[in-house]
Amino acid sequence: MNRTLETYRDLDALSRAAAGTIAGALRSRESLTIALSGGATPARLFELLGTEWRDRTPWHRVHLFWADERFVPADHAENNYRAAADSFIDRIPIPDENVHPIPTDRIDVDAAADAYEDVLRSVFHGDASTAFDVAVLGLGADGHTASLFPGWEPPADRWAAALRAPERITPRERITLTPDLLNRSRSILFLVSGRRKRDALRRVFDDDPALPATHILGREETLFLADAEAWGAESP
Ligand code: 6PG
Repeated sequence: MNRTLETYRDLDALSRAAAGTIAGALRSRESLTIALSGGATPARLFELLGTEWRDRTPWHRVHLFWADERFVPADHAENNYRAAADSFIDRIPIPDENVHPIPTDRIDVDAAADAYEDVLRSVFHGDASTAFDVAVLGLGADGHTASLFPGWEPPADRWAAALRAPERITPRERITLTPDLLNRSRSILFLVSGRRKRDALRRVFDDDPALPATHILGREETLFLADAEAWGAESP
């Protein structure tokens, strides 16, 4: 399945496009399972979902999961669930049982990954082909996505795994979904913003196997929504 690049003037425009894509997917399906990521890039999308899209989205038909999590408490500022909850989940009428954060109140990061593996296998009845309709992912300047960092080999037969990120990345202890599961997503939406992502974006489109993001492809589509700084337009 090929990648598609859509380019936008700035982060606001690409976030609006992402919200529209999610709403469009929801129109054509009875329910929508979405995997979310952390980082700075989805913040504007989250804000739009909690404001402009708050009242025009049938939230009871949406089920939220996470593509990765930092092993910090759920009320920690760097917790990915917390970031999404503060910016939109706590503001929308979504049933609690539709929200599936990666638990970080476990004895260690391996136990947290095991717990999320159990959650996913139970919700999707062990069948990865019914997992995410949409996975909203970011792209690191080093080509990582979710918490799949260059050089790390995800364990086979796992949907969720624990890992230690490279030293420059904090928090280092993380839980990530594996390519095995992410690649069963119907649609992958990469949100890419900023000049420092330009090289990684180009390398993914050149199919550079050294970048984990190169190995993430949706079953039906892999859409990169990039702003002008990331895709390299001289002027928007
Ligand atoms: C995380 C993320 C991670 C993120 C990229 C891009 O929890 O760290 O899920 O994969 O998407 O690092 O992050 P920025 O949007 O902050 O550049």
